[in-house]
Order: sequence, then C-alpha cells, then structure tokens
Amino acid sequence: MELWQALKNHSQQQYYPFHMPGHKAGRLGAFTEILSQDITEITDFDNLHKPEGILLQSQKRCAELFGAEESFFLVNGSTSGILSSILSVCSAKDEIIVARNCHKSVYSALVLSGAKPIYILPENIENADFLGSITLEQIQKAVTKNTKAAIITSPTYEGITSNIAEISDFLHKKNILLIVDEAHGSHMKFHNYFPKTALQQNADIVIQSLHKTLPCPTQTAVLHIQGNRVNRNKLKQCLSMVQTSSPSYLFLSAIDFCCHWLEKEAKNAFEYYVQNLKWFYEQSKYWKHIVLLNEAGYCRDKSKLILQLPQRQMTGIQLNDILIKKYHLILEMGYLSYAIAMTSPADTKQGFDMLSKAITQIDAEICGNSKVMSFPKIQNILPILKYCPRQAFFAEKKQIPFSKSQGQICGEFIIPYPPGIPLLAPGEVITKQIMKQIAVLQKANISLVGCHNNTLNTIEVIS
Ligand SMILES: Cc1ncc(COP(=O)(O)O)c(C=O)c1O
Repeated sequence: MELWQALKNHSQQQYYPFHMPGHKAGRLGAFTEILSQDITEITDFDNLHKPEGILLQSQKRCAELFGAEESFFLVNGSTSGILSSILSVCSAKDEIIVARNCHKSVYSALVLSGAKPIYILPENIENADFLGSITLEQIQKAVTKNTKAAIITSPTYEGITSNIAEISDFLHKKNILLIVDEAHGSHMKFHNYFPKTALQQNADIVIQSLHKTLPCPTQTAVLHIQGNRVNRNKLKQCLSMVQTSSPSYLFLSAIDFCCHWLEKEAKNAFEYYVQNLKWFYEQSKYWKHIVLLNEAGYCRDKSKLILQLPQRQMTGIQLNDILIKKYHLILEMGYLSYAIAMTSPADTKQGFDMLSKAITQIDAEICGNSKVMSFPKIQNILPILKYCPRQAFFAEKKQIPFSKSQGQICGEFIIPYPPGIPLLAPGEVITKQIMKQIAVLQKANISLVGCHNNTLNTIEVIS
C-alpha cells in the first residue's frame, strides 16, 4: 500500500493515540480537521532517518518516476537538500565552484562546511535585471586541482537553464561532482515543452522543491542522486543532520500522493497545462509595451511567465500592486524591470484568462502614461572575496554606519528577497558599485533580509 493510502486508512480506524504529536489526531489546536493523519513514527509507518518499509518503498517509487537511482524526501524544503549535499561533498580544505546567482541556502552551506567558493558569474542578459546561463567555458576556467564539486541553479527563478549535459560531461572527466539546484524545475520531466531535467543530463545530485511547481505543500522537496561519485552513506548522514527528527507525516504523505498523482494523471494534466501556456504566449503577442519573455536565444523553462516592463514606464512592483488592487491577482514577484507569474499544472484556463485580460488592459493603459520611472540596470558583479564565508561568519565584527562602509569587509548577508540571492555575503568587500545597487533596491522598496539592521543604517563588518 502507498503511504498516503496507509495514512488515510489509519486515520479512519480511529486508534486512540498515546503517542506524539500532542494535538492527538486533531482533538485540540489549529487545523484540527486535517490533523487526523499527522502521526509520528509508530508501528508500520517507518522512519525517514532509517527507511526500511513504507517510506523506503515511497522513495523508490519517487526515484523511478523522476529517473533517479535514489531519492530522498525532504520536509524542510530544497534548503535542507542543498545544505546536506554540499556538506556531504566538501570540507574546509576543498573548493567548490558556485554560480553567483545561487540561492542563500548555498551560502549557508559554505558557512557550515567551510568550503572555499570559486564564484562564477552567469551570462548577462541584455535589458534584464537577472542573470542568464552558466556556460561550459566559465566552468572550465574556474576548475582547479582542489575543486571537489560545482553547484549551479538551473532553471533559475526566472526559468533560465544551463547546458547541464556538457557541464557534467566535462566535470565528470575530472572526477568533479555536479550538484544542480533544480528547486524550480520539478515539473520539467513531465512534458517535452519544458527543458530536459538535470537528471536526464547526468548531474550527480539534483534537488527539487515539489512545492514550487507541483501540487504539493510548502516545505516539501526531494533530493535525487545517480552515479557513483556521491558518497551515499555520508549524504544520508548529512540529511539526517539537517532535517528534523520529527518529519511531518502530512508532508511525507503529500509527497507520496504527488508522485501517485504524477504517475496516474500527469499525461493529461500536463497536456492541458501546456496548451494553456501556449495560448498565453500567443495572447502576449498583442501587447504593445509589456513583453512576455520567450526563449530569446537561450533555453528557458516557459512555465515562468516573465513580464518585462520596457522603458521602465512601470516597475514590476507597481505591476504587481495594480494586479492585486484592481484585478484580484497576485504575482510571485514584482522586481525593478520585470515581474514573475509562476504557473503549475494546477492552474486553470480561467486563471490564465484572467491574467491575460488584466495584462492586456494594463498594457493598453501604459500608452497614456508619461511618468517615466527610472532605475539603473542592476549590474551583476563578482564579489571580491577576502575571507571564506565560514571564516568571515565566525570572525570578530563591529557595526558601522552603512554610508561609511566602502572598502570594509562585510560580516553579514545582504539578500534582496525575493529572489534570495545574496548581494553581499560575509567575507566580501563592500564596494562602491555594490553600495549603489543597494541604494537602488532600497529606493524601490525591495526587502533586504539576512542583515542585522533591516534599514541598513548600519552594517556589520569584520573588525
Ligand atoms: C533557486 C532556489 N533554490 C533553493 C530554494 C530553497 O527552496 P526551499 O524554499 O524549498 O527550501 C529556493 C527558494 O526560493 C530557490 O529559489
């Protein structure tokens, strides 16, 4: 029996629970209706930290579905998969190639492991405030004799993918392991309208947030592995270190059910989904000002609808505000020159229709709008690294006025959120260029997380 069915049966039998959790099958507390299936590691329900029964079977089915050799359920998001994969591969004497547009969890893993990052900067995309692909040449240039692994994000938050096949081929010849943060790509396996997955292109470790693009609750994710470069024992130990010892059976069951749903329904559901996406891209051709980013010379996961605001007559933040207030629609993110509408196979034709009508109307109204907003393009720059993130994280620090911090070594993270990519990490020099970028983000009211002082009146630097 599959985990989700076993849990349903179990709750119908109404055993009296002399075990955790303390809400006692939903007798008290919040969300009581859904808690009857929220159990702990009782008889017959296995243990995520030593799966031998029903959970092992679920994970095996998941691996088969996604084309991995082994898969591990994650209840603390892709974050826990990224932390454990880097911890299992690198120690303080190792180097790891890190694409500078990686999510903040990668930088946390650098602090935890002590590994030295060799940052590479993805390609620039003309007229866009986000980065493009990682190229093979960039990886080739970055490799040294101490390189243990490389981690890249593909697809990115904006859906940009890299050529994983050629990168993994090159790295494997040098016995270097490739980790792909595919947090945004768990849907890609299920229709050829989307780019090939990292597993299909031979990456060694692939991490996916099911909750981002598949019908699965927040925090659910999976880590997949293949090949013989991964130290599987060590990886399992690291997973056990970073995941809670009380994983939610609601999350585990939801992952299991998502896999079941994909096995049974993906074919039809993804046909419908892709039809709707294609229809939406067609509609966007009628817009005069707002541009829906298409492939534009690089491979992109088109489930992400990137709405670009030309000539900065409106910011992505403003577009999101209008959609919320006037059209009752909420985007994933509004940024300076673009906004992201995230889609999934759970979206309906009606949903696509509403968004299309709203954008068409807003686009028509931009004509008469003479108020030109101007934000300089966010330049993407490689940081000057004075200390490794771990060294810097544990160093002595002091607070100084941000305005006087030019040339100092940053002691904390400055992370525009979303998308959660650090602008500054501990150990990096605070340059004039970075300070200018921070000013632009602050002017646009983009939230900065990670730092001690949210308003950045002061900043922590290394003493
Ligand atoms: C590229 C990328 N990687 C990893 C993560 C972390 O995923 P999770 O929230 O599932 O921990 C995110 C989250 O936003 C992300 O955008």
